[in-house]
Amino acid sequence: MHKDIKEVLFSEEVIAAKVQEMGAQITADYAGQKLIVVSLLKGAVYFTADLTKKIDLPVRLDFMIASSYGDESISAGNINVIKDIDEKIAGKHVLLIDDIIDTGLTLDKISKLLETHHPLSVKTAVLLDKGARRVNNMNADYVGFEIPDEFVVGYGLDFAGDYRNLPFIGILKPAVFAKK
Ligand code: IMP
Ligand code: MG
Repeated sequence: MHKDIKEVLFSEEVIAAKVQEMGAQITADYAGQKLIVVSLLKGAVYFTADLTKKIDLPVRLDFMIASSYGDESISAGNINVIKDIDEKIAGKHVLLIDDIIDTGLTLDKISKLLETHHPLSVKTAVLLDKGARRVNNMNADYVGFEIPDEFVVGYGLDFAGDYRNLPFIGILKPAVFAKK
């Protein structure tokens, strides 16, 4: 256990099993088709790397950087695209991947942006869903785990840039927030 972590929610093994299950579901749902995965940096990198290895279909991988400006803890809802996709997605199936859906603003905004390129479809996949914090009617098509309204880190998720490389997902100790 890491000294700044209050409680481990999902161990490395539990995450791996869930990612395997999600990959199998996506493979079945898109059988016979190709997928373009659009992953949101930086939080979704670990989830994306593991999930795409469990999708047994032709997959092309692309990345976007979306950043919200304003006070993030209150969720400004102004989503800025810092890096756009390189792939041509017109007429293609797109799977947009993020680490977590919280207010829902990021996935809502980015999936609408992707739709403007006329893909065949846009679906969304997240490892975590903090449903209590949603401010719109956005829901991900593929969800790993529902979580309570707690700030979590690890497996790509950060607090002020730290803790992304923890192999598990855990709740940060309140004292750590206070220090920042
Ligand atoms: P949304 O636009 O509010 O749905 O926010 C999604 C983004 O908020 C994610 O990509 C994360 O970067 C960040 N986020 C939300 N909750 C957490 C958390 O508990 N830990 C770390 N990052 C979080
Ligand atoms: Mg993020």
